[in-house]
Amino acid sequence: MKASAISHRVFCLHADIKTDDLFEGIWPIPEGVSLNTYLVKGEKIALIDLIRDWTGAPGQVEDALKGLGLGFSDIDYLILNHLEPDHSGWLREFRAQNPRAEILATAKGINLVKSFYKIEDGLRAVKDGETLDLGGGMELQFFETPNIHWPETMVTWEPKSGTLFTCDAFGSFGTLGERVFDDEFSPAEHDFFEKETLRYYANIVSSFSLFVEKAVQKLSALDIQCIAPSHGIVWRKNPKTIIDRYVRYASYAKGPAEKEIAIVWGSMYGSTKQGLDAVIRGIEAEGVPYSIHRIPDENVSYVLADAYKSRGLLIAMPTYEYAMFPPMAYMLDIFRRKHINGKTVLRIGSWGWVGGAKKEYEAAIEPLKWNSLESVEWAGSPTAEEIKVLEDRGRELARTVSA
Ligand SMILES: Cc1cc2nc3c(=O)[nH]c(=O)nc-3n(C[C@H](O)[C@H](O)[C@H](O)COP(=O)(O)O)c2cc1C
Ligand SMILES: [Fe+2]
Ligand SMILES: [Fe+2]
Repeated sequence: MKASAISHRVFCLHADIKTDDLFEGIWPIPEGVSLNTYLVKGEKIALIDLIRDWTGAPGQVEDALKGLGLGFSDIDYLILNHLEPDHSGWLREFRAQNPRAEILATAKGINLVKSFYKIEDGLRAVKDGETLDLGGGMELQFFETPNIHWPETMVTWEPKSGTLFTCDAFGSFGTLGERVFDDEFSPAEHDFFEKETLRYYANIVSSFSLFVEKAVQKLSALDIQCIAPSHGIVWRKNPKTIIDRYVRYASYAKGPAEKEIAIVWGSMYGSTKQGLDAVIRGIEAEGVPYSIHRIPDENVSYVLADAYKSRGLLIAMPTYEYAMFPPMAYMLDIFRRKHINGKTVLRIGSWGWVGGAKKEYEAAIEPLKWNSLESVEWAGSPTAEEIKVLEDRGRELARTVSA
């Protein structure tokens, strides 16, 4: 992949990762992900964020460097905004090729360089607001933005071009191909990236929304011309678009989110589905948009994205061995871990002889501070009266969500 110029001294070099591997060992990335690194040229040369050795990423970045007439051995400073291995996994190999480059990170980041990579020399901890003079009128400045999403995270600012290198913040899933800038993608491609940004945010960043808000506030005085994250699109035309998007996503953590309902359902033989169809008729009668996800068929990554952005949830599952349908227990555990708080929720489900989902469910959602509507359970398949109640409850959920 060739390097893309942000200015005549600032370049994006990226590797596209296409793999069946799960991101962070948990989230599917069928459309891949990009690992972006950035090169800033003064008299000295800085590389911002590294890569891991994943589907040939080092070779892809090396090719881009070659296109600029450079190699890894020409780098004077390696800036590590974040030490998660997707941005640092290749550090020892980099070091072997270039023993003289100084590695810069926050103090907490430097500790992680030592513990993950057993590198002790040529390290420099930078403080909040500190600058690095690259010569030739080029300078970098570092701002700590802790907990997006690790404790050591910082962003790097290049004032000449007004570029903010944000690592995971403002990132997205999805490969880039030959284009990296926001103004190079079609509306349909932007729709794709918007969905993948929400999923990335809900999967990776949502638990740290408070810190996203703090970081955006802290950096608001900068005259940002370009947002350069280490995954996904580089925003040189409309950086505000991605900032606003992240601010909106961060606000969902406190509620209220979008006036939509995410339906999450599982069923063994279809009895729960019969009741679910009635609730959906009620929701449709009120005209409230909904997404629908069957588990475990659908990966939790996608369910999480829609649940995160929706005000309302509809949870439908049968009783299984005196407790919840197991995939729902896993889903609710993920909701708890990812702080899917403050939702308006309806639970429904079928049981055979005594039930049991209710008890386990109520304990599971206790920490989530959900506004629960009265749940509906029935034996076997629902009666005509139960169908009527389910339809009404669907309308009630929809009305509450759209109020
Ligand atoms: C493996 C299995 C375990 C079950 N465990 C219970 C149970 O502990 N208590 C109960 O009342 N019903 C139990 N049932 C019955 C189901 O809850 C009941 O058939 C329900 O209608 C299934 O809904 P579904 O068709 O949406 O899966 C169980 C059914 C299966 C297949
Ligand atoms: Fe990360
Ligand atoms: Fe990352």
